[in-house]
Amino acid sequence: MRMLLLGRGKTGAMVAELARHRGHEVEVLGAAENPHGKALTGERLASVDVVIDFTISHAVLENIQACLRCKKNMVVGTTGWYQHLEQVRRMVEDSGAGFLYASNFSVGVNLFFDVARTAAAAIQHHYSGQIFERHHAQKKDAPSGTAMTLQRVVREASRTELEITSFREGDVVGMHELVLDSPADTIYICHDAKSRRGFAEGAVRAAEWLANKRGFFDFKEVWREL
Ligand SMILES: NC(=O)c1ccc[n+]([C@@H]2O[C@H](COP(=O)([O-])OP(=O)(O)OC[C@H]3O[C@@H](n4cnc5c(N)ncnc54)[C@H](OP(=O)(O)O)[C@@H]3O)[C@@H](O)[C@H]2O)c1
Repeated sequence: MRMLLLGRGKTGAMVAELARHRGHEVEVLGAAENPHGKALTGERLASVDVVIDFTISHAVLENIQACLRCKKNMVVGTTGWYQHLEQVRRMVEDSGAGFLYASNFSVGVNLFFDVARTAAAAIQHHYSGQIFERHHAQKKDAPSGTAMTLQRVVREASRTELEITSFREGDVVGMHELVLDSPADTIYICHDAKSRRGFAEGAVRAAEWLANKRGFFDFKEVWREL
């Protein structure tokens, strides 16, 4: 496939490497080459099969709008924009393009969400719950998109909104923990990413999956099909 990758940061660089390794043609644009999504014109996108975004929360919405205007399929890994989720869903439906997003493209994290959904039953048995997330000091948004997804997963399973505590330190790739506590015992469920490879591989495989599809997709619902 011909992929246009937005963002050549820590995750974008790994996505580009893995996509090329899987035989795709990859072009990359950084912030200076794409201010306010201006590089994403019909002409520029005509020869592209899919756009993959790993940029920053304040840039991603303009990138999404530009791609959808050109009916271009898009995979979005950037976090920090979910307050616009419903608006984007409508834009995708109106455009007829294919759109897939995830706060976390790692298959391991998506399994972790399933485990958390099951464990949330503890809350009905009078356990209290807390979410902790730890990331490298340069991470711009807090809480992490993954922590917010974990919070939503538990809320949907237990009708309880858990508090999220965020830590920013060192070069931690991404650690998420659900702790369920009762007077009798404590349950710890933890996912600890060793590198960005899991995110990058999931994003590239998601882009392959999205080929020739239309509609709005959450990776959480499709990762088993990859
Ligand atoms: N969904 C997942 O699985 C997953 C996994 C990891 C990270 N993320 C998310 O992905 C995003 C990127 O993370 P990261 O750690 O790679 O950050 P990063 O290292 O800071 O990289 C961000 C990159 O975006 C570029 N950029 C900013 N505006 C742009 C624009 N308009 N067009 C093109 N490029 C633009 C920046 O370019 P300059 O360097 O030129 O400023 C930078 O290279 C964050 O939102 C993070 O939370 C998601």
